[in-house]
Amino acid sequence: MSQPTRSVIITGTGSYSPAKVLTNDDMSKIVDTSDEWIRTRSGISERCFAAQGEKTSDMAVAAAEKAILAAGIDRSDIDLIIVATMTPDMPFPSTACILQSKLGLGNITAFDIQAACSGFIYALNTGSNMLRSGAYKKALIIGAEKMSSILDFQDRTTCVLFGDAASAIIIEASETAGVGVLGSIAGSDGSDPSLLYQPAGGSTIPPSHESIDARQHFIKMNGKEIFKQAVRVMGQVSSDILKQYSFTSDQIDLLIPHQANMRIIDSLAKRMKLPLEKFHNNLDRFGNTSGASVGLALDEAYQMGRIQSGDLILLVAFGAGLTWGASLIKWQ
Ligand SMILES: CC(C)(COP(=O)(O)OP(=O)(O)OC[C@H]1O[C@@H](n2cnc3c(N)ncnc32)[C@H](O)[C@@H]1OP(=O)(O)O)[C@@H](O)C(=O)NCCC(=O)NCCS
Repeated sequence: MSQPTRSVIITGTGSYSPAKVLTNDDMSKIVDTSDEWIRTRSGISERCFAAQGEKTSDMAVAAAEKAILAAGIDRSDIDLIIVATMTPDMPFPSTACILQSKLGLGNITAFDIQAACSGFIYALNTGSNMLRSGAYKKALIIGAEKMSSILDFQDRTTCVLFGDAASAIIIEASETAGVGVLGSIAGSDGSDPSLLYQPAGGSTIPPSHESIDARQHFIKMNGKEIFKQAVRVMGQVSSDILKQYSFTSDQIDLLIPHQANMRIIDSLAKRMKLPLEKFHNNLDRFGNTSGASVGLALDEAYQMGRIQSGDLILLVAFGAGLTWGASLIKWQ
């Protein structure tokens, strides 16, 4: 596939996780579970939950401020904000618009993307293409989730798996060819939304006393089926993007997968014939932070010095929708 003439590079990363940490033992005081069950089934040891009144946009601001600082740019040069979230501050206006005001940015293009756990890659893909078009120069890409606002703390099959966080990157157009976001792919299969969904609150079941009594404003998940699909799709999308851009898995320096379940990541590693050392994982400390997860792991890997100039990095995610996506990055 021919390279796009305009490159898009990541010039700054940032993330934020709330101060309140809940261990698996803490969760076992809320629902009938145990540290042993959660760790062996998911690989998660603890997660962070936002404070009362702490909103998705508050976490996004904190992550964005760090990314802007790291990029060393003048924030007034940002001309695009995309926020990936399934837990916006409110159904509308978008969290991106709220962020535009909180960050004191100009009257720039700002919108949310809802692709659940694949959201960060969908946002990066969309933002990169908008920059490549020449219409935009510097974009703020955010993944931010207050998953605790839609968790059912009476449902042990879901509430132990998720956490709250925000992540941010600054992407900029560059004239240097062959670096940055080499390409992204994204896909969907909406044939069975009930695999992973929040039944009420939209036009299907508007909020009512009944919907609240039936606990329909919380996440519902068919864990076994989602697990099977995740293993299949994450492997497929990873090999598809490598093939599309003429790379092989042994050329990857670092793979950053969506942080949902360590057993899913283990399967991906086996399928790609890559040692786990090539992966950056932090779900043991954060759980599944949905749209924030890939950016959270990316920022951590960068801060830890795991990403160097010239490295080939693969981001891959899977989530409700179903949605999936991957991005291939040659770090500049
Ligand atoms: C949710 C998940 C960890 C469950 O693991 P599993 O091996 O499939 O477990 P099962 O669903 O077979 O449940 C086994 C038992 O544990 C019980 N259980 C479920 N949650 C539990 C918990 N938190 N603590 C203790 N027991 C639990 C179940 O009730 C079931 O008991 P039963 O056999 O008496 O009915 C796993 O299916 C998974 O990770 N799925 C993907 C979820 C995901 O990543 N979603 C986000 C995608 S972006």
